[in-house]
Amino acid sequence: MPNIIVIGTQWGDEGKGKVVDLLADKARLVVRFQGGNNAGHTMVVQGELFISHLIPSGILYPDKMCLIGNGVVLDPKVLIDEITHLRGRNISVTPDNLLISKNAHVIMPYHKQIDSGRERVKGKKLGTTCRGIGPCYEDKVARTGIRVCELIDPEVFEEKLSLILPEKNFYLKEFLKCEAVDGASILKEYSAYGEILRPYMADISVVLNQAIKAGHHVLFEGAQGTLLDIDHGTYPYVTSSNTVAGSACCGAGIGPTQIDAVVGVVKAYTTRVGSGPFPTELHDEIGDRLQEKGAEFGATTGRRRRCGWFDAVLVRNAARISSITSLALTKLDILGGLKTLKICTAYRYGGDRLTEFPSELKVLEACEPIYEELPGWSDDISGIQDENDLPENTRAYVRRIEELIETPVQIISVGPARKQTIVFQNPFGNS
Ligand code: GDP
Ligand code: IMO
Ligand code: MG
Repeated sequence: MPNIIVIGTQWGDEGKGKVVDLLADKARLVVRFQGGNNAGHTMVVQGELFISHLIPSGILYPDKMCLIGNGVVLDPKVLIDEITHLRGRNISVTPDNLLISKNAHVIMPYHKQIDSGRERVKGKKLGTTCRGIGPCYEDKVARTGIRVCELIDPEVFEEKLSLILPEKNFYLKEFLKCEAVDGASILKEYSAYGEILRPYMADISVVLNQAIKAGHHVLFEGAQGTLLDIDHGTYPYVTSSNTVAGSACCGAGIGPTQIDAVVGVVKAYTTRVGSGPFPTELHDEIGDRLQEKGAEFGATTGRRRRCGWFDAVLVRNAARISSITSLALTKLDILGGLKTLKICTAYRYGGDRLTEFPSELKVLEACEPIYEELPGWSDDISGIQDENDLPENTRAYVRRIEELIETPVQIISVGPARKQTIVFQNPFGNS
């Protein structure tokens, strides 16, 4: 199983960083293919905490090649700061282990201003991360975006800025009532970032396909989660990219025939940060308990995550859309101590019982979860290394999730650290 995609199956923050860090051991390359620094992926290795926003979560291994694909929207200052931060912690980051696509679109200062400006003026806030993600993807699709390779071509960069800035400044000043941006200073600042990043720029599709031909294993690291997907998520309360497995191919420049497996990362309960419908959300002491015990604060914005019971309807939806071949079930330790656990198996909508995730936001907002109950476990499972030592009720909970999602759980995670993981079967193979 040489080439594997890892994606989030819920609303993000399922523990993708941890799972990618774990699986990267058996890969040679780790690739980000969509999203930007709206992502916050946490890794805990030998007691040290790392949060990566742009750099793939394989960077902690000295011998992995990390690639940022064309599908990513890249804030150059954030990337430079992340490289500097990692170096300060004795993690080597050089063009020998990090390359960025020349075709990736650049998040510009006006994208960030528009993102936060809209959140300020809008009646119904989306609750974005205000990192400029949506406005940057908008310009990409409008064919007015600036790509990484254009940062180091002053002529093209200047011309593009001169074409786009009058429109951006009109919108910023007249509609969002914020300050206009200055073309000359952007040109200077971003050209300098371009020069710093010049050695890292590459044709990622070429690098990737050569590596695959040479027989190297590749791990594709998804950001966000299926319900935040621009096409398949809870639109408009979504992010601006495709977060599903299919996105890995066009976001990195590789064909679907090269993909061997798709691992869906799934939290043992559900969380969401930002606005939008959430059928199993808990507004009671159990919700507070999951939030507190699970330390459910956004890794990017620090916002409190909304918490609720496991929702099999939405994870089944994710499994179908991405043809998920196995699940990595995380944060199982957080459920310990609850007498009874609930799993949502379908929604009640008026007199109907829905087993598929509805497209209409109004319908979803009116859905009531139909729960089945399972007995909880009181033990602390965070130190368990062997599946046979797991309490019977924990195993029954895992089995029930496998049944409902019709997908095997190959990995369970019982704590934030790399070693707090039980691997039933490594998706790359156990050898
Ligand atoms: P990502 O965006 O999918 O990579 O997930 P985040 O890093 O944003 O959020 C997951 C959080 O849960 C991080 O703080 C992780 O350190 C933590 N985490 C991951 N797996 C486990 C687990 O099995 N148990 C516990 N207690 N924490 C975990
Ligand atoms: P990782 O990769 C959780 C959410 C935001 C907001 C919506 C749109 O760490 O799982 P955006 O800034 O993307 O335009 O915001 O998407 N969001 C995430 N929620 N985890 C993430 O990434 C997220 N990235 C964006 O909170 O609701
Ligand atoms: Mg996160």
